[in-house]
Amino acid sequence: MYICGKLVTLRAIEREDLSLLQLWSNAPEIAYMLGGWHFPSSALMMEKWLTDLQADPLNQRYAIETKLQKRLIGTANLVNINWKDRNACTGVMLGPGEIKKQGYGTDTVIALMRYAFEELAFERLDTTIIEYNQPSYRMYTSSCGWKEEGRKKNYYWRKNRFWDQIIIGINRDDYFTFMEK
Ligand SMILES: CC(C)(COP(=O)(O)OP(=O)(O)OC[C@H]1O[C@@H](n2cnc3c(N)ncnc32)[C@H](O)[C@@H]1OP(=O)(O)O)[C@@H](O)C(=O)NCCC(=O)NCCS
Repeated sequence: MYICGKLVTLRAIEREDLSLLQLWSNAPEIAYMLGGWHFPSSALMMEKWLTDLQADPLNQRYAIETKLQKRLIGTANLVNINWKDRNACTGVMLGPGEIKKQGYGTDTVIALMRYAFEELAFERLDTTIIEYNQPSYRMYTSSCGWKEEGRKKNYYWRKNRFWDQIIIGINRDDYFTFMEK
């Protein structure tokens, strides 16, 4: 089942997506904004990543496709899925050069929230942000109803210095209140 927003569709990642995903995975400007890190990705590593992903139901990663042109513009995820306590972490990434500040990120998070809370009956979603990532912070908090819940001091090492990690989240009650507005 596709996860549908108003502007985007979240679908499974296909082998044909891998060359673009490899480019994005190696783009320094994207790596700078993301909490995770890895060494340079080869085509073979991308193949293995996709194979491992198929066998991992607790870490879901999706392609973000525009509804109108059906163009791959980024990836989104629901990872660290915890079925007992009914929570998970989310992530969203639009490719470098893809259209920003047009609502695609917000639409993706809202589609993920609707899926997590209304279809999977989750209680809570979490994510973490590097302190300088204003686009992500604004997307989650001002556009999607999430709240800052704390900061871990000097959690990330980027560009020769440490930066804080911002912890943000949303519970199902807050999601339904947000959607009523
Ligand atoms: C974060 C990201 C997904 C946002 O996607 P987007 O489609 O540009 O965001 P939206 O258009 O939905 O905008 C959401 C909010 O963020 C704000 N915003 C977006 N880009 C911004 C920027 N460069 N500077 C300041 N605010 C910005 C928008 O103004 C909007 O806030 P508003 O509703 O108060 O006006 C996108 O910038 C991205 O992929 N960045 C690189 C990867 C990344 O950082 N992922 C998140 C890791 S935690």
